[in-house]
Amino acid sequence: MKPIRETLSTANATPTPSAALSPAMHAAPSNGSVIPIRSGTSTIAPTVIAVTSGKGGVGKTNIAVNLSVALGARGARVLAIDADLGLANMDIVMGLAPTYTTAELVRGDAHIDEVLVQGPQNVWLLPGASGQYDLANLTDVQRQDFFTAVDTLEDRFDVVVVDTGAGVGSNAIGFASAAKEIIVVVTPEPTSVADAYGMLKVLCTRCGVRRVKVLTNLVQGEREGEQVFRRLANLAARFLSISLDHIGSVPRDASIGRAVMRGEPAMSAFPTAAASRALEGIAERLLESEDRDERQGAMRLFWRRLLRQEAR
Ligand SMILES: Nc1ncnc2c1ncn2[C@@H]1O[C@H](COP(=O)(O)OP(=O)(O)OP(=O)(O)O)[C@@H](O)[C@H]1O
Ligand SMILES: [Mg+2]
Repeated sequence: MKPIRETLSTANATPTPSAALSPAMHAAPSNGSVIPIRSGTSTIAPTVIAVTSGKGGVGKTNIAVNLSVALGARGARVLAIDADLGLANMDIVMGLAPTYTTAELVRGDAHIDEVLVQGPQNVWLLPGASGQYDLANLTDVQRQDFFTAVDTLEDRFDVVVVDTGAGVGSNAIGFASAAKEIIVVVTPEPTSVADAYGMLKVLCTRCGVRRVKVLTNLVQGEREGEQVFRRLANLAARFLSISLDHIGSVPRDASIGRAVMRGEPAMSAFPTAAASRALEGIAERLLESEDRDERQGAMRLFWRRLLRQEAR
């Protein structure tokens, strides 16, 4: 495994629009990607996708990283935000060693351009800090400053993938509920299904969320994924006014853990592994479900809603 959080000379380079445009941006996507390929400043606000869960340890970070890489490989300029602010680890899964993190951003010790670090494909990471109690429990003012800083990036990216912390704490719920697309990750364990339901309940009853995508992880096969989804969907249909779409299943696959040990996203290290192929399919479906018109103002809506929530 690569040394954790050591300073790399390539880390924390400033992502100018031209720097953010890797060759992949100019290549015709081989698989019919519908993400518009643009140069320079975007005119359409990016889509914000939050990856969240009720129970911890269900695979959010690995899914958020590998989905980001898959979307980047299709020509999207991707911003990955590690919003697990107190216990962040997207940087490790991406194999990066940032100099600065959101800790410095929130404390006013670094500009957001200094904090951003370039990862694989077109993915830029806003890394979080680990073991920082004050970040896991931001004050309202700190959180607003954080949102305002991220808001300045909206012209530079097509897609924003947010890895939230687990559970129904204010950070996780705040990030998840304000995203245009929410992916709730659930595994076959009954505790995971119960906690996913709890998460849906909070999103629905407290935040007015009406539509959520469910990703079943650590399954034996498609069939088990479908069964887990049905269990959750039946519960939601009985007790909540929220509609669930099954965005797909990712099998239990040792390549995920092996890639983390190598300090490289599974999508890059083991592109043909079962989990990577499943995540490719999910990235594809996410792109297909995007309606370009709907994307107008998505990022603004995301942050404005967060700011309004904070103001309450
Ligand atoms: N499809 C998979 N196959 C095998 N192992 C997996 C898979 N998905 C995740 N894992 C493993 O499960 C563990 C938890 O993954 P990860 O850290 O991504 O979860 P998380 O939901 O982000 O956790 P937390 O709630 O603590 O942030 C890791 O050891 C990871 O390697
Ligand atoms: Mg995580």
